[in-house]
Amino acid sequence: MKVVHSIEALRDQLRGQLRVAFVPTMGNLHAAHLSLMRLARQHGDPVVASIFVNRLQFGPNEDFDRYPRTLQDDIAKLEGERDVYVLFAPDERELYPEPQNFRIQPGQALGQILEGAFRPDFFMGVSTVVLKLFSCVQPRVAVFGKKDYQQLMVVRAMCRQFQLPVEILAHETVRDADGLALSSRNRYLSAAERAEAPYLYGLLQQVRDTLRAGPSDLAVVEAGAMQSLQARGWAPDYVAVRRQRDLQAPSQDEIQAGEPLVVLTAARLGGTRLIDNLEFTAV
Ligand code: PAF
Repeated sequence: MKVVHSIEALRDQLRGQLRVAFVPTMGNLHAAHLSLMRLARQHGDPVVASIFVNRLQFGPNEDFDRYPRTLQDDIAKLEGERDVYVLFAPDERELYPEPQNFRIQPGQALGQILEGAFRPDFFMGVSTVVLKLFSCVQPRVAVFGKKDYQQLMVVRAMCRQFQLPVEILAHETVRDADGLALSSRNRYLSAAERAEAPYLYGLLQQVRDTLRAGPSDLAVVEAGAMQSLQARGWAPDYVAVRRQRDLQAPSQDEIQAGEPLVVLTAARLGGTRLIDNLEFTAV
C-alpha cells in the first residue's frame, strides 16, 4: 500500500485509473472500516482509502481535539488486509490551504433535521470535505456505512444534485456480538457504559416490534423510547421513525401499506454520543 500525503502524489498514483473505489474515513480504523474496504474491492480497482479528521464537521463543543488519531496503527491494519492500494492522509494545510469560504450547504429538509438539528454544521462539513475528497480521488464508486444513515443520504443527494459521476454504495452496519454498532467513539465508553451501550440497538428493535404489532401513534412510541432511555441514565437527542426514502415522518396509511421505514436515534451515555438506526417495514 502506498501512503501519500499530498494531492499531487495521489494524482501521480492514480493517473489513468478509471475504476477507482474510494472509502473516506477519519481513521481510528476498526472492523467496520475494514469491511467497507472489502466491499470497495468488489466494486472497483484500485481501492483508495483516506484518513482525515475534518475540523469543519465538528461543532465548537465536540470532540475534534480528542478524536483518536492513530495513523500508524491504521496503516498496519490496512496493510494486513491487503485491499487498499493507496492511502491518502492529507494534513489540514493540504486539504484546506486557505480559509474555506465555499461550503456545501445541504438543504433544510435533509440537512437540518435529526442529526442536523443537533449538530447544525455537521452536514455542511461532511458535504464540503466529501466533495473535496471526491475531487482529489475522482472515484467511480465510493462506500459509506449505513450506521451514519443520514450522512449516507446527504452524500447521495449531493452527488445527484451536483451530477457527480460517483456511485455511492451503502454497507450494512457492522455490530459487536451484543448488538452495539461499531464506532470509533465506542472507545470513549467506560466498562460500565460499554455494558449498557447495546441497549440502544435493543430499543430500536423494540420500536420496530411495537409498530409491527399493530397501528400505534408514532409520537407516543417515540416518546416512550426516549423515556426508557432517560430512565436508564441516557440523555437522548431523538428517537424518530422516518421514511427511508427522504427521512420525513410517515403517515399511518404509509406505515400500514408497508412503506420502508427506518428508526434513528442519537443518545448520550456519560460523555459519549452514540447514534444507531434500524431499517424495517411494519407489515
Ligand atoms: O463518516 C466519516 O468518517 C466522515 O464523516 C467522513 C465521511 C469521512 C467525512 O469526514
